[in-house]
Amino acid sequence: MHTLTVDLGERSYPIHIGEGALRGLGAFVGARLEARRCLLVSDTRVAPLYGDAACESLEAAGFTISRHTIPEGEPSKSIDRFMAIQDALVAMAADRATPVIALGGGVVGDLAGFAASCYMRGVPFVQVPTTLLAQVDSSVGGKTAINHPLAKNTIGCFYQPRLVVADTATLATLERRQLLAGFAEVVKYGVIWDAELFAQLERDLDAILALDPDALAPVIHRCCAIKAEVVARDEREGGLRAILNFGHTLGHAVEALAGYGEVLHGEAVAMGMVAAARLGEALGVGEAGSATRIERLLTRAGLPTDFPALPADRLLATLTHDKKAVAGIPRFVLARRIGEVEIVEEVDEALVLEITGAE
Ligand SMILES: NC(=O)c1ccc[n+]([C@@H]2O[C@H](COP(=O)([O-])OP(=O)(O)OC[C@H]3O[C@@H](n4cnc5c(N)ncnc54)[C@H](O)[C@@H]3O)[C@@H](O)[C@H]2O)c1
Ligand SMILES: [Zn+2]
Repeated sequence: MHTLTVDLGERSYPIHIGEGALRGLGAFVGARLEARRCLLVSDTRVAPLYGDAACESLEAAGFTISRHTIPEGEPSKSIDRFMAIQDALVAMAADRATPVIALGGGVVGDLAGFAASCYMRGVPFVQVPTTLLAQVDSSVGGKTAINHPLAKNTIGCFYQPRLVVADTATLATLERRQLLAGFAEVVKYGVIWDAELFAQLERDLDAILALDPDALAPVIHRCCAIKAEVVARDEREGGLRAILNFGHTLGHAVEALAGYGEVLHGEAVAMGMVAAARLGEALGVGEAGSATRIERLLTRAGLPTDFPALPADRLLATLTHDKKAVAGIPRFVLARRIGEVEIVEEVDEALVLEITGAE
């Protein structure tokens, strides 16, 4: 078992990572929080798989548990599901000390975290991520949100969990496509921050994707450490945190134009990263060969990397409305080389169209 800390002063919190970490959930929560009751939020796929194990561990540590299960999938990040969690908290007469524990992927974490941030102006929140994406990305950093019917992740806030418990063994039941989508974010950390991690991914790819704990656990640990460091330096995305959006500006365009749900977020990020790396090379910012190296790793993993030909006008409209844009001009995170990125405020539209093959 490995533990690392997200360093945010009084709001610092531990991340426990390891094979079988779920068995320690009750003890970890008990060590951090005073409460003796909790609300366990999960989804219809994860609850039957890991709900009982989570409850057993919490009960053994003396907790009384109320359970709340949401339908799996992105549509659950809705105001109705948010209200249903408030209802559950009211029904159990939860007080200010009653933690909300999110057991599941990013959907459960984002929704339950936002619900926890609002009930009685904030009750303790615990993340128990069960997808690779949630373990390396969404469970760390304190972004919570639900979706507006017309815009993803627009209703939310920064609300840090009190602890994170990531059991790598839960990834065994994850669909391969979901695993790979999470792996795209893992590759991202290598590109933006850590050339050694990237080389490790190239070397140990098969063992990592086979979920060999000796290969996988250190990688998840490293990704969390990178995210923790970036978030500690820039919690509210004033500057540095934007590097986590590498591959995401173009990735979001693919998600939006392909129709959410058609392409998984991580798949769109894979396409976006290769295109952003090519853009960097074309602008003379990026070291030649970086894009090809990123593409090769993603392709070997089984991720799609060919940027789909999107209608030029719609692509540009989406890019300029991207909420990460500054003054309407797309803001790109470009790779200087593997392990280092640069934020460019303004990129020539024609070049973006050319690199992405827009029509
Ligand atoms: N807060 C953040 O910083 C942040 C960062 C990245 C993404 N996100 C959000 O996270 C969400 C995506 O997260 P996700 O990819 O984890 O999606 P998800 O929560 O929808 O999980 C994907 C699917 O896997 C299933 N699943 C989860 N764990 C499983 C397991 N161990 N075994 C079998 N099936 C399992 C789920 O039921 C679901 O069907 C998006 O809503 C995105 O906006 C948030
Ligand atoms: Zn992402």
